[in-house]
Amino acid sequence: LRVGVLVSGGGTNLQAIIDQVESGQLTGVSLEVVISNNPGAKALERAKKHHIPALCVSPKSYATRDEFNQALLDELEKYQLDLIVLAGFLVVIPEIMVKRYPNQIINIHPSLIPSFCGNGYYGLKVHEAALARGVKVTGATVHYVDAGTDTGPIILQKAVEVKEGDTPEILQRRVMEEAEWKLLPAAIQLIADQKKAAE
Ligand code: GRF
Repeated sequence: LRVGVLVSGGGTNLQAIIDQVESGQLTGVSLEVVISNNPGAKALERAKKHHIPALCVSPKSYATRDEFNQALLDELEKYQLDLIVLAGFLVVIPEIMVKRYPNQIINIHPSLIPSFCGNGYYGLKVHEAALARGVKVTGATVHYVDAGTDTGPIILQKAVEVKEGDTPEILQRRVMEEAEWKLLPAAIQLIADQKKAAE
C-alpha cells in the first residue's frame, strides 16, 4: 500500500506510523511522501530523518486557495498513492481532492466522533471542550474523509479515561499515547490488508 501523509505540526502521529513500519509491526505499507502546509513543521524533520521524501506546499505560496489545492493535488499525483493519511493536518481538504481520492483519505481526530468535532474543534480545543463538558470518557477516531469536516464513515475508535485534575495538555497527551498512536497505524494496516485481499 503506497501511503502519503499530510501533516501540519509536531508529527507524533507520523512518528507512530514510521516506527511501526520500521519495526515490521505494520506490514505491506510503504511511506512514499510526507507533505506539510507549514514549512516549520517538526513532522517534516521526522520524515527526513527516516529518509522519506518530505516537502512543504504552503497556501501562502499561491495567490488563491484553488491554486494551492491544485498544487497539492499535482504533487500527490507524482507518488501514485493508494492512501492519503491526514495526521494532524489542519487544512480543509477540498472537494476536488475528495473526488480524486474517494475512500482513499483517512483522518485521525482526537475525540469520539460525533462528540467535539467539526469546524473549530482541533488540537487542544477538542480537549478543552471535553473537559468543559465534564465527560468521563473521551478518545480518538479514525474516519474516512468526505466533503465535510470530521463527517466521513468511522473506521476505528478507542476510548480514553478522563482523570481528576486533567488539564487539556495532560488529556491530549493521554489521548495521543493511548489512542491516536495506536489507532492510526491499525487503520492503515486494515486498509493494507483489504487491498492485499482484493488482489
Ligand atoms: C494533535 O492534537 C492530535 O490530536 C491531532 O493533531 C494534533 C497534532 O498531532 N491528530 P501530531 O503530533 O502532529 O501528529
